[in-house]
Amino acid sequence: MTLSTAPSPTGTLIDGKGFSAEVRARIAAHVSALGARGITPGLAVVLVGQDPASQVYVRNKGLQTREAGMASFEHTLSADTTQGALMALIARLNADPAVHGILVQLPLPSHLDSDAVITAIDPAKDVDGFHILNVGRLATGQKAMVACTPLGCIMMLRAQLGDMSGLNAVVVGRSNIVGKPMAQLLLRENCTVTIAHSRTRDLADLCRRADILIAATGRPRMIPGDWIKPGATVIDVGINRITENGRSRLVGDVDFDSAVTVAGAITPVPGGVGPMTIACLLANTLTACCRSAGLPEPEGLTA
Ligand code: GUN
Repeated sequence: MTLSTAPSPTGTLIDGKGFSAEVRARIAAHVSALGARGITPGLAVVLVGQDPASQVYVRNKGLQTREAGMASFEHTLSADTTQGALMALIARLNADPAVHGILVQLPLPSHLDSDAVITAIDPAKDVDGFHILNVGRLATGQKAMVACTPLGCIMMLRAQLGDMSGLNAVVVGRSNIVGKPMAQLLLRENCTVTIAHSRTRDLADLCRRADILIAATGRPRMIPGDWIKPGATVIDVGINRITENGRSRLVGDVDFDSAVTVAGAITPVPGGVGPMTIACLLANTLTACCRSAGLPEPEGLTA
């Protein structure tokens, strides 16, 4: 399968929207086959409080879960929910055989201990891949649940590049959700991996040596085209809302207009990494369901 769609001045666009639709269609076909055996994968999403951005994410997750034929269980708790009440809900979901995946939407209100909540999730149901057991399994090359955004990135890279052995990969950003698991996945693909961050010296120079550049800084258009090696593959994880000329719009961590003239291939924002993240959440839920039923895992949907 190739991801290249519309040719741009030099680089090709990596069409995350189209690719995610293909992935979701494959998932829906698996789910339908499971249905014939009386099995329905189920995803529970827990939202604490009323953060508008989180509400949008949670609504989208619910919609796409149902569209794929899975069961969606949505739990909305008030912003002043106690740690005890949240932990009791996690225990109930852990014990519920209809629930194969559990996602607690982050960030949680500041009075709640996110680490304790994530650690309380059954690692087999940890479709976010945030539990330390899954993080450790990924780092040691064992079968793990892998965080959705990096999983989506590696799926796009595999489809775009095939064998990545020996390529220089630079990951800009060291978060637990994206940067660190992304680096582990690239290492598994036999890339030579560097993780850069806000204290990195000569960042421009480092980026210019990257055959694969992953931008996950959360800083709008931080990486200009002249930091990019000609022909490099650029994955822009950033989703930043900015106001420009009085209009609100989404931009990535890469300055797309200058980068697209240098890169070999690049993900746009929106329409690149974003749609793949929810597709991978569904993929992880399906994988968790198959594992719990002792059935073979779907091919091409795991790390
Ligand atoms: N908030 C923003 N992104 C994510 C994510 O991938 N998982 C969870 N649980 N919360 C998020």
